[in-house]
Amino acid sequence: MTHPNALEAARCGYIPKHPASLHENAVAVRSDPPTASSEDVRDLFPHTFDLPTIAFEASRTPMVSRVHRVGVILSGGPAPGGHNVIAGLYDGLKRIHPESTLFGFLNGPAGLLKDCGREIDGPTVDRYRNTGGFDLIGSGRTKLESEADYRTAIETARARKLTGLVVVGGDDSNTNACLLAEFARTVHSSLEVVGVPKTIDGDMKGASIETSFGFDTASKVYSELIGNINRDALSVRKYWHFIKLMGRSASHIALECALQTQPTITLISEEIAARALTLNDLVDHIAGIIALRSNANQDFGTVLIPEGLIEFIPEMRRLIAELNEVLVTGWQEFSALETLPHKREYIAGCLSPESAGLYRNLPREIANQLILDRDPHGNVQVAKIDIQRLFIELVGHRLHEMREANSYNGTFSPHDHYLGYEGRCASPSNFDADYTYTLGFTAALLLREGLTGYVATVGRLTRPAAEWLPGGIPLSRMMNLERRHGHDVPVVRKWLVDLNGPAFKRLEANRDLWAKETRFAFPGPVQYFGPSEICDRTTITLQLEAPV
Ligand code: FBP
Repeated sequence: MTHPNALEAARCGYIPKHPASLHENAVAVRSDPPTASSEDVRDLFPHTFDLPTIAFEASRTPMVSRVHRVGVILSGGPAPGGHNVIAGLYDGLKRIHPESTLFGFLNGPAGLLKDCGREIDGPTVDRYRNTGGFDLIGSGRTKLESEADYRTAIETARARKLTGLVVVGGDDSNTNACLLAEFARTVHSSLEVVGVPKTIDGDMKGASIETSFGFDTASKVYSELIGNINRDALSVRKYWHFIKLMGRSASHIALECALQTQPTITLISEEIAARALTLNDLVDHIAGIIALRSNANQDFGTVLIPEGLIEFIPEMRRLIAELNEVLVTGWQEFSALETLPHKREYIAGCLSPESAGLYRNLPREIANQLILDRDPHGNVQVAKIDIQRLFIELVGHRLHEMREANSYNGTFSPHDHYLGYEGRCASPSNFDADYTYTLGFTAALLLREGLTGYVATVGRLTRPAAEWLPGGIPLSRMMNLERRHGHDVPVVRKWLVDLNGPAFKRLEANRDLWAKETRFAFPGPVQYFGPSEICDRTTITLQLEAPV
């Protein structure tokens, strides 16, 4: 195999570190499942709720297993390590039985519904080991939502003679995996469905999942770039950098990057919602720090802004809820309007007076972005809203007012950045390469056990990989009932930043100092080869949060 560069070639030969118990002979030890977040969920999952927690332990006794034919889907946004999930799954299936096979559905759940995919053989897997991206089979955000979708999925699996299906995705995709597993049992299909926790956003965790894969690499890539921006700010001492960071809803990425790079200001959406801070409060806060630093001749700094923030600011949240309503009820009229000014005026006319006032006062670019198409789950596409520019504009106005009132005399020269797509397909860090390989292999072991409705888990992640604990928990145990479109529906709970947790507490304890004095840190790039303390280090969030 030829590689365009030496690092790629060396990386291809990397053998992921994995737990000693990760072996075709591993024996499944069953114990009580974690306490459910909602007992009401039990009634909805009669076949897949009362199932045990699984831990795989090393065993010398060879296990005899049948031939498995497994389908795999990569779902949602890419996350570093997806290809190693496939490699681990492939190796696991082959070790369980050499005639087992793996079939990849193309472009996410849509591939399953359209029965569109490809066989994944050994040479193909070898080409993609330890690489970033999801391009081996692609990904997509199509939702499996109706009973008809579930029937189609089961029919495709039957026609392809699949014994199992592995769904690699975040909270929404794992919700679908769980519903499909339950539906399969209800219609007496023997298809077994297992999920794998993926998302750079870091919010698919809790109940035995210490972190989702991809968070480690993505937050390290962003931290490298923020560190470089910190260094530039410190060198030229004339720019304020407003940096939006990916993470649809939760602020885990912004928090982790803040702990790694020690920026001047970090906004955490969950705190802003908890303290009911308004847009004005935030603008005052940022402008206040800029003025304070200017008095000390420090007209520079970095501001981290989580991309999901807009939905956590109380008045913006209300506005977005009203916009969603108007876009549903008034869709025909709205879509018939030809120009954006007409669309904006139509929308403003349908809003409550407070929201209409707010909407009309937003910069035009943001007002347009707020009425863009929603994603297939009905969410505002926060990745397309330039909240960092909104802050630059509003803070600029506030500083102007302060200048008029003689309370600010500095120079405000801002730059905006958005760090998101730069990190989602990066070559996985050693941690993500090892973790995802283990998750994929574990998924194969769960299928060997004939388990369905499970998510693959790996515990003790802050210890050396040899001591990790592979296993699984029933997905239904991660479910909550949530109100969606007027109905209570079961969904895998999204874990937001815990304001009482150690990671946020560390930021809280340091941020005043980082704002006043310049204490930038420069973590540098992800390292793949070298001393373990550099190459295998986990995120600060995981170090602080993981059970000892
Ligand atoms: P997942 O939740 O599917 O992992 O995707 C996360 C994410 O990368 C978010 O951080 C971001 O807001 C969103 O995807 C962007 O979506 P898209 O890929 O559709 O642009």
